[in-house]
Amino acid sequence: MEIKVTLNPAPKAKPADESKLGFGKLFTDHMFIMDWDKASGWHDARIVPFGNLSIHPASTVLHYGSEIFEGLKAYRNAEGGVQMFRPMENIRRMNRSAARMGLPALPEEDTLQALHELIKLEADWVPHGEGTSMYIRPFMIGDDEQLGVHGIGRAHFIIILSPSGSYYAGGMAPVKIMIEDEDVRAVRGGTGEAKCGGNYAASVRAGDRAEQKGYTQVLWLDGVERKYVEEVGAMNMMFKIAGKIVTPALNGSILPGITRKSILEMCAYLGLDAEERRISVDELIEAMENGTLEEAWGCGTAAVVSPVGALAYAGKEYTINNNEIGETTMRLYEELTGLQWGKKPDPFGWVYPVN
Ligand code: PLP
Ligand code: COI
Repeated sequence: MEIKVTLNPAPKAKPADESKLGFGKLFTDHMFIMDWDKASGWHDARIVPFGNLSIHPASTVLHYGSEIFEGLKAYRNAEGGVQMFRPMENIRRMNRSAARMGLPALPEEDTLQALHELIKLEADWVPHGEGTSMYIRPFMIGDDEQLGVHGIGRAHFIIILSPSGSYYAGGMAPVKIMIEDEDVRAVRGGTGEAKCGGNYAASVRAGDRAEQKGYTQVLWLDGVERKYVEEVGAMNMMFKIAGKIVTPALNGSILPGITRKSILEMCAYLGLDAEERRISVDELIEAMENGTLEEAWGCGTAAVVSPVGALAYAGKEYTINNNEIGETTMRLYEELTGLQWGKKPDPFGWVYPVN
């Protein structure tokens, strides 16, 4: 694919203090854009100066939420080079989200090329500090300029880059999570397993309520019986119960996380016992009460591996592992980030060098 490049005539100064990056607040000098319409397919691939978009007030995305996105990262490796982690997994998941939301499929190899060329151009923006990375946000919007609810006839695919630190303000410290028993995030047949903006819009109210009570995020229960745990707002969940790692099985309403998948594959490689199955909230409460819930952590691109130090349900709070980072949580964090930051050899072929 030919990508036309227009360089930014006024590049910004790079951040002087990488410890203050935060998450998703700073953006690089360029972005990638490609347009789609029914008649011509994808066309006009271009890298342009980062800036505001101009959009018709009747655009589909503004009214009917035709939006999907991805999240992956570029890391500064031990040799000073830049690498991505399993980018094709994100591209394929984006195409599954696109299929669910009636948006056009992306050409996989061209999309990988777009990621590669944009990151190569912005390589100096990939931070060097411990725990930092460049968060990559590809997204697609439906953009028909009329108010009828119809199949999408026009769309744009855009990639923006954000040099970032920890997703949670406290860094790698245990977070407190509230099990949500009022709102639901998703039901089978809905959009739960697609990474679409609407899922996140609908989760804000519960997240706000949890925050007011001192919790970082909510743990969603299944939308039908409200009995089985699914995932947290921006991460999949894993538990260590009586020596065994367990995670909710994918059921159509959980986002199939790439970090989750990678950890399960790593566990098989490392000889750690891990299982995907249904986990009821009653089982978790019982395991917390009888002390067999040894550890809990969330996993995701932004969240990496985040220890969970407490879970609250029906007005009661349960502390996990003394609110300390567990041994397995730490081991998985180190194995995963060892690969991502190129500190450990990659026996899986997951690392994608950008050079
Ligand atoms: N679940 C939700 C709702 C998310 O937003 C994310 C973040 O992307 C995840 C799980 C973890 O997915 P991944 O590991 O692919 O980042
Ligand atoms: C990610 O981990 O990439 C996410 O998409 C989480 C997010 C909603 C910030």
